[in-house]
Amino acid sequence: MEAARVAGDLIRRYIGRPEQTLIKSSPHDLVTEVDKACQDVIMDILSQMYPESAFLGEEAVAPGSVAATLAAQEADRRFLWVVDPIDGTLNFIRGLPACTVSIGLVVLGEPVVGVIYDPLRDEMFAGITGQGAALNGAPMRVSDVDDLSSALLASGLPTGDYRGKNAEQIRRFGYQVRNVRAFGSAAMHLAYVAAGRLDGFWENDLNAWDLLAGAVLVKAAGGEITDALGAPYTLETRHVAATNGRIHSELLRDLDVDHPLQSS
Ligand code: IPD
Ligand code: CA
Ligand code: CA
Repeated sequence: MEAARVAGDLIRRYIGRPEQTLIKSSPHDLVTEVDKACQDVIMDILSQMYPESAFLGEEAVAPGSVAATLAAQEADRRFLWVVDPIDGTLNFIRGLPACTVSIGLVVLGEPVVGVIYDPLRDEMFAGITGQGAALNGAPMRVSDVDDLSSALLASGLPTGDYRGKNAEQIRRFGYQVRNVRAFGSAAMHLAYVAAGRLDGFWENDLNAWDLLAGAVLVKAAGGEITDALGAPYTLETRHVAATNGRIHSELLRDLDVDHPLQSS
C-alpha cells in the first residue's frame, strides 16, 4: 500500500501532462516516462522492504503469457510482485481520472495479496486471500445481483488481436444486461467488482499485471474469477471473467466462446 501511494503521488502530479508518449506493441498501446518512474519507485520500495523479491512489471517485459510463466518459475521460492504501475495509461495521458496502480503478490505460485490504488479518489482497495478485502480500511463485499439482465457489467477494448471479439461481445451484452461500462482500467473494473459497484467484468487478451491484484480482491470479497472458458484463474490467464459469483455461469454462457479463444 505504501508503494502504491508513492506511485499514486506521481500519477496525481503528472496526469494529463506527461513529457514523452511512446507507442508500444500496437497504436492502442502507449507508455510514458511516468509509467516507468512509477514502476521504478514501486520496485525500489518493495525490494528494500523485501530483498528476496522478484518482479513481473509491465514496463520491463513483453506482453503475453510467456513472461508470466518465466517469472513464476524464476520466483519459485521468492516473493513475486506483479506490478502494473499505471493501469489506464491512455486515461492518464488524456487527463481522464480513471487510472490505478495495481500490485499483487504471489508466494510459491499462489496469489496472496492484492492492492489497487486509485490516487485520484484516494481509494485503496486491498485484500488477502482467505482473509477478506477492504476499501480504505472498511470491509468490502461483492454485490448480490443474481440475474444477468439486472447486471451492471464492465469490459474494455484490448490493445491487440482480440479487440474485434471484445467489441462484438460488448455490443451483444449491450442489449442483454442493465448496462456496460468501459472506464479504461481493467484493474479499476476488478476493484469495483470486489467493492460491489459492478456485478461483473470480462475482457480478452489481458496480461498478468492487469489481473493479479484484482483477482485476489475479487475472490477475497466473495466473488469468482475464471478464464473465459470457466477454468480457474491463474497467473497465465489472459481472457478473464470476474463476477459476484451469482451471475458467473450466465456470463460465461453468453460470452459465447465457440471460437479459438484459448486461455493463453
Ligand atoms: C490497459 C487497460 C485497459 C484495457 C487494456 C489494457 P494499460 O492497460 O487495463 O482497460 O482495456 O487492454 O492494456 O495499458 O493502461 O496498463
Ligand atoms: Ca494494464
Ligand atoms: Ca500499465
